[in-house]
Amino acid sequence: MPIPRRGRFLLLASATAGVVVAAGIAVTGTAEAASTLGASAAQTGRYFGAAIAAGRLGDSTYTGILTREFNSVTPENEMKWDATEPSQGRFSYTNGDRILNQGLSNGSKVRGHALLWHQQQPGWAQSLSGSALRTAAINHVTQVATHYKGKIYAWDVVNEAFADGGSGGRRDSNLQRTGNDWIEAAFRAARAADPGAKLCYNDYNTDGVNAKSTGVYNMVRDFKARGVPIDCVGFQSHLGTGIPGDYQANLQRFADLGVDVQITELDVAQGGNQAGVYASVTRACLAVSRCTGITVWGIRDSDSWRTGENPLLFDNSGNKKAAYTSVLNALNAGGTTSPSPSSSGTTSPSPSPSGTTSPQPTGPCTASVSLNSWNGGFVATVRVTAGSAPVNGWTVDVTLPSGSAVTSVWSAGNTGSSGAVSFRNVAYNGQIPAGGSTEFGFQGTGTGPSATPTCAAG
Ligand code: G3I
Repeated sequence: MPIPRRGRFLLLASATAGVVVAAGIAVTGTAEAASTLGASAAQTGRYFGAAIAAGRLGDSTYTGILTREFNSVTPENEMKWDATEPSQGRFSYTNGDRILNQGLSNGSKVRGHALLWHQQQPGWAQSLSGSALRTAAINHVTQVATHYKGKIYAWDVVNEAFADGGSGGRRDSNLQRTGNDWIEAAFRAARAADPGAKLCYNDYNTDGVNAKSTGVYNMVRDFKARGVPIDCVGFQSHLGTGIPGDYQANLQRFADLGVDVQITELDVAQGGNQAGVYASVTRACLAVSRCTGITVWGIRDSDSWRTGENPLLFDNSGNKKAAYTSVLNALNAGGTTSPSPSSSGTTSPSPSPSGTTSPQPTGPCTASVSLNSWNGGFVATVRVTAGSAPVNGWTVDVTLPSGSAVTSVWSAGNTGSSGAVSFRNVAYNGQIPAGGSTEFGFQGTGTGPSATPTCAAG
């Protein structure tokens, strides 16, 4: 069932929100104005993407804009459950692969959308429940993430699992009825299948500080505390004629939890100050150093799911609209520098409140571990922090108690699985800026390490 269109958007009276670049964060200037969205976003280490449809790739106006303007793509429908597993255990990647290859051949990032969602499930999944559905869902995550392993920048692992309204709780769905832990089970399965992909939770009407976004916030905080692998939160931003006044503050509070944030499905109703709202969203992302990119949900107005609302950056003929120019100008005005694509798994040091300085670790690197243990097993999340100089490659040595063993590892490679175990960075998280940090994790049987791990750089 498609989502009812009414009630999906924030219809705010105020057209735009004042957006302030936070003090204490490095701000880039306009080195040179770029002439396309992707190139301009790249100047601050970000991407500017579009949702695209395989069925439109034969349209040369469409692909012309796509390859010229965008450096990230998201499949609008082609990687969803009904498309990729139309009958149970029989996987179909033809159209998903077309989107992937379109993106990769253009040097673009590919955002995977979406591994699990209560909508667009194949009929066979809709008729399952309980452990049969849970097993099928986790198998789906594992199979699809494995098929695209190493090629996806970020996966929307779970889409739209929170309820609208004031409860701040989960939405009822067949997936939710398999048990509240279905989301973390999905994230763990995705991490095990593709350790290089950023794993996102994605939702709508979470674009300001409200009960729903606070419900998501509490889940992310809990996941981070317990070592459930989550790297990013997507804010769909299907907007009406306004933008919440606390849009940027909302992005920042999630970023402060230690996840990246991304604007994932941006479109804005035409009729109000469309260009102004687009510019405000762009400036808000640029002001948050962990906001790594923006995706618009379609290219031309005629490609949009919001028929008749003309919510995109190009008109039906492919001409640039005023909203396009306002986004490009906002991008060219610069903003905080986002972590570079080559260090997508690493984080820069958090900005300190003005007037204070954070103590910088000394030595080449240090490692600390947080454990989530249960009877017979554990998950360890290890934070690797660079000292006062950048780190180019790292090794973390951990000692496991007798009888314990590592069973899976993410965002690192390991030598040994019991006793003295050595973890080495993978390609995307070896470089850590001075004072910055990155995380990897491992799951094991028995009990986790009790001593502080040692870290060696180089
Ligand atoms: O492909 C069939 C076609 O064969 C058939 O003839 C036609 C008849 O209706 O339907 C076509 O499928 C449609 C599909 O889009 C492809 O165009 C579905 O009916 C239609 O429901 C589907 O809508 C998509 C919608 O998700 C489904 O809920 C939209 O394109 C897509 O833009 C939209 O995207 C969602 C995000 O995934 C999640 N966030 C909200 C966003 C907007 O609803």
